[in-house]
Amino acid sequence: MNQLIEKERKHRRTRTYEESFQRLIPSGGYRSPNPYLMEDVLLSIVLKKPVLLKGPSGSGKTKLAESISNYFQQPMQSVNCSVDLDVESLLGYKTVVQENGQTLIDFVEGPVVEAMKKGHILYIDEINMAKAETLPILHSVLDHRRTLTNPFTGEVIFAHEDFNVIAAINEGYIGTTPMNEALKNRFISFSVAYISGDVLKELWQENFPNGKQEVTNVMLHLAEDLKTQVEQGLLSEEAASIRSLLDATELAQYIPIERAINYAIAEKLADRNEKELVMELANTWVK
Ligand SMILES: Nc1ncnc2c1ncn2[C@@H]1O[C@H](COP(=O)(O)OP(=O)(O)OP(=O)(O)O)[C@@H](O)[C@H]1O
Ligand SMILES: [Mg+2]
Repeated sequence: MNQLIEKERKHRRTRTYEESFQRLIPSGGYRSPNPYLMEDVLLSIVLKKPVLLKGPSGSGKTKLAESISNYFQQPMQSVNCSVDLDVESLLGYKTVVQENGQTLIDFVEGPVVEAMKKGHILYIDEINMAKAETLPILHSVLDHRRTLTNPFTGEVIFAHEDFNVIAAINEGYIGTTPMNEALKNRFISFSVAYISGDVLKELWQENFPNGKQEVTNVMLHLAEDLKTQVEQGLLSEEAASIRSLLDATELAQYIPIERAINYAIAEKLADRNEKELVMELANTWVK
């Protein structure tokens, strides 16, 4: 691993967190589809660049962010974007509190403010689901300024040196809007593809060390077939989702493999021909 990354890891791992934040340090386990993706993302984090992970559902974007947070043993605060996401859900809100018989106005800090002040990793999921007018508040957080003027309190917040932002998007999905150029421009972008080949095999060995060998064999073959059909445009991208394949494998430890594949993979596809194609491919491997 790059020396710069190692040095930063040592530094960040010396930090301690109170118990409520320790629970926000997730487990790792992301497997890089090529030898450099994980390292390049880590480097961008060390250089304090906001990271954008682009990829289809179940490709490991969240797992990758969690693994970064685990690598540095640093808490990860998450924000899930939707059209209802407003500035309050990002920054926090004012509330009334009673103290010694007096009524006071307090500010409850949201995930962005807390992560900035405490030096956590901020994970913004489905960032292209948010309304275009909500996110510009983050522009100064995401560029070289690393600051924010809280519009509710007037406080100027300077980001802790270990604060980082990782955002994720599924491009072109229903309900998403193309990311605003100025927002996108602030990120270093990475495509996160479904893993395959030996990397996939290792993931199965790790997840199902005592699983049925026949099930693993079928799933690994099916995974490669699905990927090929996706590349040829015969199946929609999510047909090859690693999440669905893992789910199918888990179910198939208890029920017949075809049924597991049907529930976890085929049934999720909208198109009847696609469903049939998945089951045909599965049947070529099931003995
Ligand atoms: N490269 C990978 N290494 C390790 N685990 C992976 C990888 N790809 C997918 N997975 C596993 O597949 C499942 C789905 O991954 P994850 O939730 O990270 O996907 P995602 O890209 O965030 O999907 P979505 O866009 O739907 O949120 C998890 O159980 C995750 O551990
Ligand atoms: Mg995710």
